[in-house]
Order: sequence, then C-alpha cells, then structure tokens
Amino acid sequence: MRQSSLVVVANRLPLDDNVAPDGACEWRRSPGGLAGALHAILEQTPATWVGWSGAIGEAPRLPDIGTLRLRPMSISEDELRGYYEGFANSTLWPLYHDAVEQPVFDRGWWETYRSVNRRFAEAAAEVAEPGATVWVQDYHLQLVPQLLREMRPDVVIGFFLHVPFPPPELFMQLPRRLELLRGMLGADLVGFQRPQAAHNVAQLAAKLLGAHGADDAITMDASPTAPPATHNRTEGQRIVRTGAFPVSIDVAEMRSLNARPYVVNQARRLQRDLGSHKRVLLSVDRLDYTKGIEHRLTAYSELLRDGLVKVRDVVMVQVAVPSRERVENYRGLRDRIEREVGRINGEYGRVGEPAIHYLNQPFDRADLAALYQTADVMVVTPLRDGMNLVAKEFVAARRNDTGALVLSEFAGAAAELEDAFLVNPHDVDGLKETLLHALAADPADLAARMKAMRAYITANDIHAWARAYLTELDLARPLVS
Ligand code: ADP
Ligand code: F6P
Repeated sequence: MRQSSLVVVANRLPLDDNVAPDGACEWRRSPGGLAGALHAILEQTPATWVGWSGAIGEAPRLPDIGTLRLRPMSISEDELRGYYEGFANSTLWPLYHDAVEQPVFDRGWWETYRSVNRRFAEAAAEVAEPGATVWVQDYHLQLVPQLLREMRPDVVIGFFLHVPFPPPELFMQLPRRLELLRGMLGADLVGFQRPQAAHNVAQLAAKLLGAHGADDAITMDASPTAPPATHNRTEGQRIVRTGAFPVSIDVAEMRSLNARPYVVNQARRLQRDLGSHKRVLLSVDRLDYTKGIEHRLTAYSELLRDGLVKVRDVVMVQVAVPSRERVENYRGLRDRIEREVGRINGEYGRVGEPAIHYLNQPFDRADLAALYQTADVMVVTPLRDGMNLVAKEFVAARRNDTGALVLSEFAGAAAELEDAFLVNPHDVDGLKETLLHALAADPADLAARMKAMRAYITANDIHAWARAYLTELDLARPLVS
C-alpha cells in the first residue's frame, strides 16, 4: 500500500459516478460544499483522499486525479442505512442545524456509525506515512480523530466541521454526546466555520469532560477513557487547539470559467430563453430542508399574488439538485416543493411564460457559472448553513459589478459577505421586502456592494483557507506532558 504525507478523510470522494447519454459510466465532481472546496486544493498536492464513492457494495477502482490518490471505501446497504442515512443525516444533520427538522434518535444506528468510523480510521492509518498529517472532515466521521490517535499516535490529526456546531443545550440532547465530543477532541486541531462553534465546544468540554475550555484551546486528559480530569493536573494532559476557519471557493477556477466562450455564450442564450427584458431571480441548492426553499417560494408566490412582481417582468430559476433521496424528510420535502412550484406556475404562469423554472438535476461547473452570470438577484435563504458556498460562487462568477445577493443571516457566509442584502428567512414579510429592495436597487449601490464582496473573496479564497488551517495544524503537533 502506497503511503502519503497528507491524508484527507471524508465521507465522500470528490467524484460521483454518472451515466453519460451514450450509456458509458463517467466520473464527475460530486455536488456539495466539502467536495468542491477540497477538490480545488488537493488536485495539485501529493495526497490521498479516503472516502466513499457513492456506490453501494464493493468499492470501485478509481483513477488518480492529478497527484491526488483516491482510496475508495466500500459501504454496504446496512451501513448506508445506519451510518449515512441514519445517524449522520437523520440524527446529527438536523440537530446540528438548529433542529429545523426533528432529529431522530434510533439506538440501532449508533453501532453502525461507530463501526464505519472505525473502518475509515483504519484505512487512514494504512495510507498515512510515519508522522503524516491526517485531515478528517465533517460530522459523518466525528469519531475518527480519537480512533486514529489510538492506532497511530505518530500522526498529526486535524478535524474540520463544515456544518454548524450547535449550542450546548441542543448538543446535550444527543444520547451519545460524550463519545462524539471525545471522538472529535481526539484531533490536535478542531476547526469550525464560525468562532461561536469553538465557544460552544469549549463549554461542553468543561461541562462533560471536566476539561479546561477556552475558545482557542481545550486542555484535557490525554487518556480517552480516563474519568473527567481535574483542572489543575499538568501530567498526561493534551491540548486540543480550536478555532474558526471559514471555508471558501476556488475563485481562480470561477474566473477562468467566466472567460470561456462557452460560458459567455451559454449565459447569453439563457438570458434570451428566459426573456431578454426579464429580471432573473436565481437559487441553487442541494434539495435540503435546511436551505429554506419553501420559505423563498412562499415569499415569491405572495409577491406575485399581491401584484408586486409580474411574470412579464420577473422570472425565478430554482435549481435543486437531488440529495439524500432515500431519507424520508428529503422525499417529503421534494414532494412539497414540486407541488408548490406546480401551483405557482398554474396560478401565475402564462403560456410559454412560467413563473418558475424548476431544475432538479446536477449541472457541470461551466453551466453553473453561466447560470450565475444570468441572475439579477441571487437568492440564498438557508434557515441554517455552516457556510454556503453558492453565495460565494455567485460573487466570483460575476463578470462586472452588477447583480444583487440576498443572503440569509443564518448562513456562515453572512458574517463575511456583509455587503449582501441580509435577511431573516423565517420572516416572510421581511424576505419579500428584501427581494423588492434588491430588485429595485440603484446600480451604483449594487456596484459598490459587489466590488467589496469580490475583494473579500479574492483575498479569502480556498487556498487561503487551506493554508491557514494547515499552518495552524502544523503548529498544533501533539504536546503530551
Ligand atoms: P452544501 O455543502 O450544503 O451542499 P454549499 O452551498 O456550501 O452547500 O455547496 C454546494 C455546492 O454544490 C456548491 O459548490 C454548488 O456549486 C454545488 N451545487 C449545487 N447545486 C448543484 C447542481 N445542481 N449541480 C452541480 N453542483 C451543484
Ligand atoms: O457541506 C456539508 C455536506 O454534508 C458535506 O459533508 C457533504 O459532502 C455535502 O454536504 C453534500 O451532502 P452529501 O454528501 O450527503 O450528498
């Protein structure tokens, strides 16, 4: 087995299999913030990515991507149910997103979550060379840092959570809270999107583990099974560093797409097909209940009902890529959204002039860039989101200083893109007003906002994120006294 000095461990590999129109199987970048973010930085780095290909059963053989080796993990049907659809996406995902849907606590899922985490840790231990850096990603693999530490005390371990970390009172509901906290704190550096998350973890570490928790470091007992440490012990203690590292996008990739003739022509064609004189409201999401799609449809539908927006002047494009389709909550959401889109088009559309274009399909990067260029108002309204890279992609995709970004206050991106039109998506009246405000905004105001947001993401792109995290991780090499 070839070993690497940098190993990334994530639930998903950055590739999805896709059946091409001619029936051939091809590999395509998987939708989702994590894959996009890491793909950009690892393509030219000698590293190994341990993850799942999305196929059930035996792991497929996959080609390297540039200098990046892929180590596919097999996932069985039972594991998919208990680990991915169950504990990760029906327990942790809703709980970590402010319980906007009720988390399900099913005792049967835990063992599967734990055993899959162990298999991922074993695979990472196998491909990590002595003293390697291992970077574990997201809530699916929250036990891996501690498991890996036990298997390979020589490696330096980072953990990054792409989603929000909940307030202590929500985390405390988790039946397996102690194991999950210890698992994550097996890392040398635990990174979050927002500083509040580090604060929440420090409070929990103090309460549940008797650790000394500050917002940038947690001092805790080195032994994972030891009883809670007393505050003044100095021997056998570990320091776990924590901090906020807001994830970003590959701005250069988006700029080079912008300049491609295909993208420019495609954007022109889209504008013509949507109606040359029409203002375009665009949303691009995984079809997920955290994204606030229903709130946004309600706001748009009421604007049409009240005659404040007319189908002859404005059109909405909602891209909603299928996601986690075997999880009950997601199926129900898709049904509700499709019914509502049908209702809105039935009530307000005209022949050859729908109120909403609804696209439930994956797009490649060039077509996404063309869509972003066509939007007059990008509408990003999650009820809770760790970051939301779509908001940043929209800003990077603009070729000039036009276009407005309407952005939920509950997306991590809102703390950085302060020049967006910030909105509380739970307040449908406020959302309607903000949409009207963005549609009517003065071009000089829009230009000033867009310039400021573009400057921000240019200086804080995905490469800056990876540099900041990996530099800090290097400083956090184990300190056991
Ligand atoms: P999440 O990680 O919750 O999916 P983000 O907004 O952070 O949310 O990231 C979504 C990523 O998925 C973005 O990079 C976006 O371009 C990509 N994406 C969204 N919709 C599609 C689609 N229909 N086809 C391909 N990629 C998509
Ligand atoms: O960004 C959050 C996240 O859960 C990633 O970990 C994940 O890859 C992405 O959303 C898409 O979700 P999934 O992998 O379940 O399709």
